[in-house]
Amino acid sequence: MGKPKVVLGVSGGIAAYKSCELLRLLTESGHDVRVVPTAASLNFVGEATWAALSGNPASTEVWETVHEVPHVRIGQSADLVVVAPATADMLAKAAHGLADDLLTNTLLTARCPVVFAPAMHTEMWEHPATQENVATLRRRGALVIEPAVGRLTGKDTGKGRLPDPAEIYEVCRRVLARGVDEPDLVGRHVVISAGGTREPLDPVRFLGNRSSGKQGYALARTAVARGARVTLVAANTALADPAGADVVRVGTAVQLREAVLEAAADADVVVMAAAVADFRPAEYAGGKIKKKDGQDPAPVALVRNPDVLAEISADRARDGQVVVGFAAETDDVLANGRAKLLRKGCDLLVVNEVGETRTFGSEENEAVILASEGPEIQVPYGPKEALAEAIWDQVAVRLQPRRA
Ligand code: CTP
Repeated sequence: MGKPKVVLGVSGGIAAYKSCELLRLLTESGHDVRVVPTAASLNFVGEATWAALSGNPASTEVWETVHEVPHVRIGQSADLVVVAPATADMLAKAAHGLADDLLTNTLLTARCPVVFAPAMHTEMWEHPATQENVATLRRRGALVIEPAVGRLTGKDTGKGRLPDPAEIYEVCRRVLARGVDEPDLVGRHVVISAGGTREPLDPVRFLGNRSSGKQGYALARTAVARGARVTLVAANTALADPAGADVVRVGTAVQLREAVLEAAADADVVVMAAAVADFRPAEYAGGKIKKKDGQDPAPVALVRNPDVLAEISADRARDGQVVVGFAAETDDVLANGRAKLLRKGCDLLVVNEVGETRTFGSEENEAVILASEGPEIQVPYGPKEALAEAIWDQVAVRLQPRRA
């Protein structure tokens, strides 16, 4: 089998320079990439750069090499088309089926998955015209990645940044792996908590845990690639923001509860992958706690934190909301897991065995997915991403049909 064929469409936004890095990531990981820039985009990055980095011609117009019928062939033979950056103009053209250059022709002839990574000023992104175009493209099965929030061209800050090229690459890789299957979480809002909460004792110390957040981030990345709108509530993680996810940063269990409840109000799915501290210090010392010569340290009194998973499961914000919990167990893994599933009242509980050397911070995981209804699913030792996909498969079959 030859290398997977990727078309990288580049439309006319300043973020075009970031797509050079995306191109590099795609070629270096064994993809045959054909760059199709729009004429406007050549004001930002020239044809020579695309041709040299891809090792393929980078034409803009349908009138070059006409005997090869490029306006049809490039789209027909692609395994993936990714447009990054996708301007408001490009989204409008794609939504309306215009075909006035090589890229728009390619979009009409492609029968493979299509990913758009929009980048523009916040006002243009939020304009009803753009939002309706995005909705149209999504309805037709394209994956439109939500822009990131941050510094835009000039001095403004807001939603509209092109996500990190490495994260766009991650989306492309996952979409390619799924093949022609249409994204099955399109139109769904999923909320994922990740990481571990920290409960402060004083301004410099906290009670925490060893969760890295990698499993929650793998869930967020795979959900984006399956078309979901993702809110990632991240507690004390040091991982790059997944492309397309709305990341809300929190510190303590109480803050995490607030953020998850707010986002869950209109969510189809809530996945509690965060390691939430069950207890917090009863008192917070406003100044650093000092040791005193000849005195034993004062004991630390603890109080219970709210159980977010149990609360969300008992009081679903929406009919049919699917709630998923995690359980990290050191002994009697399955028996404890089954008891916890009942106690928490969630639909699915992902149980894994943990210890000093198992799971925390690692790239791999092994788990059993227990269900309140239906058989248990054993997920063999493998990448956290594979477990994430298995969890979404179980969630997807439990989602109620979308309202029209
Ligand atoms: N969880 C939560 N709120 C808490 C504690 C845990 O929402 N205060 C969620 C976690 O995100 C996870 C699940 O509950 O999805 C399991 O957490 P775990 O700490 O293993 O369960 P506990 O109920 O604390 O049981 P035990 O400590 O007895 O193992």
